[in-house]
Amino acid sequence: MTKYAPSWLSLREDADAAARATGLIEPIRSFLKTQDEVVIRDLGCGTGSLGRWLARRLPGRQRWILHDRDEDLLTHALARTSRPGHAVDGSEVDVVIEQCDVTELRAADLAGTSLVAASALLDLLTAEELTKLAEACVEAGCAVLFTLSVSGRVVLSPKEKFDVEISDAFNAHQRRVTGGRWLLGPDAVDVAFGVFERLGATVRRAPSPWRLGADQAALTGEWLTGWVGAACEQRPELASEGDDYLRWRLAQCAAGELNAMIHHEDLLVVPA
Ligand SMILES: C[S@@+](CC[C@H](N)C(=O)[O-])C[C@H]1O[C@@H](n2cnc3c(N)ncnc32)[C@H](O)[C@@H]1O
Repeated sequence: MTKYAPSWLSLREDADAAARATGLIEPIRSFLKTQDEVVIRDLGCGTGSLGRWLARRLPGRQRWILHDRDEDLLTHALARTSRPGHAVDGSEVDVVIEQCDVTELRAADLAGTSLVAASALLDLLTAEELTKLAEACVEAGCAVLFTLSVSGRVVLSPKEKFDVEISDAFNAHQRRVTGGRWLLGPDAVDVAFGVFERLGATVRRAPSPWRLGADQAALTGEWLTGWVGAACEQRPELASEGDDYLRWRLAQCAAGELNAMIHHEDLLVVPA
């Protein structure tokens, strides 16, 4: 099981907030108005950054249930300073945590849930896990917001020929089989879209790219290191050229001469 460092989640929080597709909020607001009680589950919540972003954009009293299998991250998420403040109209936002494997949630577990949300989670699931989760959400009648799922497309400026090689190897790493599970990686949004459509749901999708420039050098540097590292783990024959490439890209980043657009997609389902 991959552990996510709170420092990494914290480093990306502002870029995530800037990237999220705000056009999907209004349909969620309208749907929540039809609910007697607003209950929102954040699956794979990490330190709770989605709740800190979304709760204050939604009206009315909200109960957030934060799910993760990592107890340390849940402890961070529950800390007073981490919790979302108030709703947009000043209403209370309650937060509880539930440690679990979110791939095991079924419709009965989601009963009474208004919105099932997740951020940067889908690529870590298998097609079967994602299908079962989508089926559970539709059967339970919840709205669904899956945000910031990687699409596999990265555009660096200035460009370099080796970018494509690294990008392809990284995407292959995201789609790897690990512990007997075949991860969806960058295919997750297309798969989710197809599953929800097959279930008769109306699905909206919207781009949510990170746009990283000189002001986000720390995040870009960390992301680059992980991107190249995973690519070389996937294709060890790239390691030598990959080391030189990473050193050169990090120097550009430190000098404020690198821009990176890392594409993600957000996906929304609102019950009819
Ligand atoms: C990339 S992090 C994103 C965290 C957070 N949503 C954010 O956007 O900052 C993925 C999170 O999902 C959690 N996770 C991954 N697979 C999970 C599973 N099957 N059940 C519960 N949590 C899971 C990890 O522990 C981690 O906190």
